Amino acid sequence: MIELRELTKRYGGRVAVDALSVRVQPGVVTGFLGPNGSGKSTTMRMILGLDAPDHGAALIGGVPYADLNRPLQTVGALLDAGAFHPGRSARAHLSALAASNDLPGSRVEQVLRTVGLSEAATRRAGTYSLGMRQRLGVAVALLGDPAVLLLDEPVNGLDPEGIRWIRDLLRGLAADGRTVFVSSHLIAEMALTADRLVVIGRGRLLAETTVAELAAGDESLEDAFFRLTSQATDYRGVGAS
Ligand SMILES: Nc1ncnc2c1ncn2[C@@H]1O[C@H](COP(=O)(O)OP(=O)(O)O)[C@@H](O)[C@H]1O
Ligand SMILES: [Mg+2]
Repeated sequence: MIELRELTKRYGGRVAVDALSVRVQPGVVTGFLGPNGSGKSTTMRMILGLDAPDHGAALIGGVPYADLNRPLQTVGALLDAGAFHPGRSARAHLSALAASNDLPGSRVEQVLRTVGLSEAATRRAGTYSLGMRQRLGVAVALLGDPAVLLLDEPVNGLDPEGIRWIRDLLRGLAADGRTVFVSSHLIAEMALTADRLVVIGRGRLLAETTVAELAAGDESLEDAFFRLTSQATDYRGVGAS
């Protein structure tokens, strides 16, 4: 489980994440939905200890990321595809990570298979397409077989086949009983992938709901999302990703 307690982050005078309190439960895909600039990436960075909150806390299984004994085996993350040494192959990259985290080498071949990179495993990551880099990023996230997964807009830049693949993968991981927290600014995509939804705007929690609940009303999903977020959207803030 992921728990956010009044999680708050300011950049200069501006609040990026505003007293966000949420519990993300295992066994379902939870979509983290909000317009560009609403604080999704900042929240995910704080969960992973890459950014320090100004107030509040982000806990994984009750513990802040920095206090985890085996971080890679507790939480896997895909924040920024392409964060690889371009001269290293997928297999070399994963093997180095496995070695430095005390993970068995057999995990490398397993995750390469899961993400469909076995054939391309010896190619330099610098030659990979965006879709292949996303797959390598997912392989890194899965390497430690973690119970918690965080993915920041994993669908961005993927082709339809890649989108379908990631959707099926996330649903399978949740069905295994894992906690899957995935961000997007697209309600249509989340409607196909997520069960639960955490909707934010300008860093604030706007709704905790389900796709089924949102779809049950008279409005279209797009209209419901727009209604939820329009009151909170500050168009001066839009443009960040
Ligand atoms: N490193 C930073 N320095 C200053 N402002 C930032 C930084 N990171 C994010 N922001 C600001 O915080 C707000 C939330 O950004 P972000 O978390 O990237 O939103 P999202 O991922 O939902 O698009 C935006 O207004 C953005 O400009
Ligand atoms: Mg973002």
